[in-house]
Formats: sequence, C-alpha cells, structure tokens
Amino acid sequence: MRSMEITETTWERLLALSRGAADIAASDAAYGLYSPIAGARGQFVLAQVGQSLCGRIATPAGDARVISGPDGLAHLHRCRALVDAVIVGVGTVRADDPKLSVRMVKGPAPVRVVVDCHAVLEGDESLFHDGGAPVIVFRGANARGRALPTAEVIDLEPKACGLDPQDILDALARRNLLRVLVEGGARTIARFIDAGLVDRLHVAISPIIIGSGPSGIILSPIERLAGAHRPVTEVYSLGSDILFDCRLERGRASDRQGQEVRVANQA
Ligand SMILES: NC(=O)c1ccc[n+]([C@@H]2O[C@H](COP(=O)([O-])OP(=O)(O)OC[C@H]3O[C@@H](n4cnc5c(N)ncnc54)[C@H](OP(=O)(O)O)[C@@H]3O)[C@@H](O)[C@H]2O)c1
Repeated sequence: MRSMEITETTWERLLALSRGAADIAASDAAYGLYSPIAGARGQFVLAQVGQSLCGRIATPAGDARVISGPDGLAHLHRCRALVDAVIVGVGTVRADDPKLSVRMVKGPAPVRVVVDCHAVLEGDESLFHDGGAPVIVFRGANARGRALPTAEVIDLEPKACGLDPQDILDALARRNLLRVLVEGGARTIARFIDAGLVDRLHVAISPIIIGSGPSGIILSPIERLAGAHRPVTEVYSLGSDILFDCRLERGRASDRQGQEVRVANQA
C-alpha cells in the first residue's frame, strides 16, 4: 500500500497536466494516482464510491453525508477538479441535494450532470440556484418534466435499459467534456460499468460500520466468479480512508446488458 500525501507543487503540476501541459516523469504516489485522470486526452471515465467497511454508501434512510473521512472527501474534490464533468443520478440529487463543488481544493469546478430519465426534478434543487458550475440534465425524450432554471436539458431516446451511458458520453463529448467522473449513486455507476465504459474505479473505504443501507456497487447478477471483474489495483492510504484504484477493462460489457439494474441489499 502506498501512502498518498500531496504537495502544493504536485497538485499544481496535475492541474497543469489537466489543462494540456506535457506529462512529467514523477514517481510520487500522488502523481501516480492522479496523473492518469489529469493526463487523459480522449474520452475517459472515472467512477468513484465512498463506502463503509461493510460496503454501504448510505443508511436505509438515505443519510450519506459523512461516510468518507476528511481525506476521502478531499480526494473526491481533487477528482472533480481534474475532470470536465461530474455525473450523478437523480436519486443522489433527491437524497443529498449536492453542490458537487470543489470547495476543499484549489481548481476548476466541473460541469454538473444529472441523469433524470423520467424528468422528476422539480427545479428547486440547490444546484439550479447556487451559482455554481453549469448544469446539464439528461432526460428521456418521452418524459414531460418541469422547466429547470439555468440548466441545459438534453433529451435522449431511451433504450431497453434506460438512457444509454454511451449516448450520455457522446453528448458530453460534443460539448468538449471528455474526462468524466461518475460519482453515484449505485444505480448510475452500475449502468456505466455494465456498459463497459469505465476506465478507472476508485473505491474509498472509511472505517465506519453501518451494517444496513444500499451498497455502493451493484452490477447485473453473475452466476460464476469467473465472470467477476478482477481489476489490476493499486492501494493507497489517503490518511482517514483507504483507496482502491482499480483499472477496469473498458469495452468489457456485462452479458446481461438490457436487463434492469436491480438494487439489492437495501437494508
Ligand atoms: N457514498 C457515495 O460515494 C455516494 C455517492 C453518490 C450517492 N450516494 C448515495 O446513493 C444513494 C442514491 O443512489 P441510487 O443508486 O439510489 O440513485 P442514483 O444512482 O443517484 O440515481 C438513480 C436514478 O437515476 C436513474 N438513472 C441513472 N442512470 C440512468 C440511466 N442511464 N438511464 C435511466 N435512468 C438512470 C435511475 O433509474 P432507474 O430507477 O430506472 O434505475 C434512478 O431513477 C443516495 O443515498 C446517495 O446519498 C453515495
């Protein structure tokens, strides 16, 4: 396990790398962890989960605010600052009313993207009114929803499994938003992993035991462990949290594409 401490110099180098500067030969743990994100030049998808020792991302009532420790949260904000867009599902917006800001670190705030297939957002959620980074909302083309102040609404033709994550990425790419962080919740992350579209998965584990509530990663069911993902993984101590940095195989789609993503382990 590598110990990850980040200096201001390394962070400045990473921010420069994300703006297009040339990669440098640096061997410290922080550069090793963040340079694949900052240095990605084509479409790149990072998914991140902050979970308890028992694999939960919230209580059954949806309280998820302080699962990650301060270093896990700072890590999440660094990831946000290095991508062009951060994606959450509508379940996360309704449960947490998040700002999706980078307030714990110095750096640019990514465009905020919400997947709201059935157009249930009301328009009074904080991210439409907080003066933060631009907001894009993806809706199903047949959904009739409210007008959303300050947001760009993009209608996508739904497929059997809802909105196709590739269609979402393509629409973002047309807006020059190529580096993307899929931040949750579980159902939204599942759709991107099941579609074989995630390059890196960060699982940050915090020493808290909840014992009930939703799990962070719930993929389409498999029968045999031979079908499980076994990513090449680096492990980092962030301080308050332990981070598993997993390289997923992009293009490895689940053979159950098209099935409903089932949310198990709710309690
Ligand atoms: N600890 C963490 O790291 C973390 C991060 C984020 C959120 N959370 C917690 O996670 C919980 C929310 O997770 P969740 O899994 O319930 O909700 P979610 O993933 O935020 O949102 C799920 C909703 O978005 C829809 N959706 C997502 N992607 C879609 C797509 N490609 N096409 C169509 N619909 C799509 C889902 O549709 P369907 O109903 O059709 O599936 C569902 O209605 C909250 O308690 C939140 O606090 C924790």
